[in-house]
Amino acid sequence: MADERQEFWQDVRRHVVRYGGAFTPEIIERAEGSYVYTEEGRRILDFTSGQMSAILGHAHPEIVATVRRQIGTLDHLFSGMLSRPVVELSRRLADSVGKAAAGLEGSDGGPLTKVLLLTTGAESNEAAVRMAKLVTGGHEIVSFAGSWHGMTQAAAAATYSAGRKGYGPNAPGNIAIPTPNAYRPDFTTPDGGHDWQRQLDLAFALVDAQSVGSLAACLVEPILSSGGVIEPPPGYFAALRRKCRERGMLLILDEAQTGLCRTGTWYAFQRDGVVPDILTLSKTLGAGLPLAAVLTSEDIEARAHERGYLFYTTHVSDPLVAAVGNTVLDVLERDQLDVRAGVLGGRLRDGLLQIQRRHPVVGDVRGRGLLQGIELVDPHDGAAPAAGADRIGAAVTRRCLELGLHLNVVQLPGMGGTFRIAPPLTSSDEEIDRGLQMLDQAIGDVTAA
Ligand SMILES: Cc1ncc(COP(=O)(O)O)c(C=O)c1O
Repeated sequence: MADERQEFWQDVRRHVVRYGGAFTPEIIERAEGSYVYTEEGRRILDFTSGQMSAILGHAHPEIVATVRRQIGTLDHLFSGMLSRPVVELSRRLADSVGKAAAGLEGSDGGPLTKVLLLTTGAESNEAAVRMAKLVTGGHEIVSFAGSWHGMTQAAAAATYSAGRKGYGPNAPGNIAIPTPNAYRPDFTTPDGGHDWQRQLDLAFALVDAQSVGSLAACLVEPILSSGGVIEPPPGYFAALRRKCRERGMLLILDEAQTGLCRTGTWYAFQRDGVVPDILTLSKTLGAGLPLAAVLTSEDIEARAHERGYLFYTTHVSDPLVAAVGNTVLDVLERDQLDVRAGVLGGRLRDGLLQIQRRHPVVGDVRGRGLLQGIELVDPHDGAAPAAGADRIGAAVTRRCLELGLHLNVVQLPGMGGTFRIAPPLTSSDEEIDRGLQMLDQAIGDVTAA
């Protein structure tokens, strides 16, 4: 067994492209529920839901049954052919977003009733940006400086948290605005509060100064996840939407991680009372399988269509993953996982606050529902990033893994390391408590060493 393991890692070194960060030093054999299992039979609690996607845990029996049934009846089609799972999922997503948006400040073009089913998050943003460009006639795209929208061209051009250097020019017209970070505010009111309005006004004064008069859209996450679990303050998105409207820009919300109940509501935009013009969903929609969606209004879709909108891909409208999406909606609705994510998120948050009280290296606990973050700071210097936060973050991650917990740490310039904590929505109370215990022990072990 030891020889086979050595060979495995030798093959990794010889044959696997290193595509970002270090590989987790375990050979994963299977995954079930809230756990992944190593080849040696060790079980590891999955506090990242795979890559922030497996909201129903792993190998959920109903997803397994759907995949088995669907792969044997209708898997993939010519891209111009439609099938019942695709049209059913389109209708159900439109209904679900419509219900969430009821009574909120809507897209000017009407409710988001038109749906395009795709594969990945980057692809959904690509499709959304292409649509916004075609419909507005502009090409400039504004996003947060801490954003992550994906690795393909337009998505990567709007991604500022990592990966910009060394790949040559991006499409012209991408503009960054500062992320409103209440923990480290760039602007404060005279009483020390977070003056995000002043920051936003300055940001758009700079957008206007840089723009060549071709503004198309703002593409933003409602909670920046890869950017360090940063939740813009209440009121921010309504103000951002006004900035967009004043300039004829569309608002595109990327709910790759926050959509489908994770934050305690079906969609994160519900807290903000703001419905975007275009909504992108991905990761959580397939609960681990590659499925994404773009939703927009009838009016925007019609304008795009009139101008010859083209987003013709190999896996557009694929029935296999659409059937999975329908099952994901079945389970979320039946088990009321929005409510469950709120309750379990409260339990997780309470536990993290207790950890913060015990370990001064934990400077901030933030997030919503089952998407939480804790940021490491210098215990002797307020909110200053911890000296060696990357080392401490890596050591805590390693120790957690030894204890049986998988976490992900985000490292960005000017911040401490931030652990992203996003367990499956199907987690039990005991699993959340167990994860918290392991995290508590790991931070204690590392900071005592
Ligand atoms: C908010 C957000 N948008 C888009 C993406 C890209 O999705 P994908 O990796 O499926 O292309 C991610 C991935 O982390 C994300 O977090």
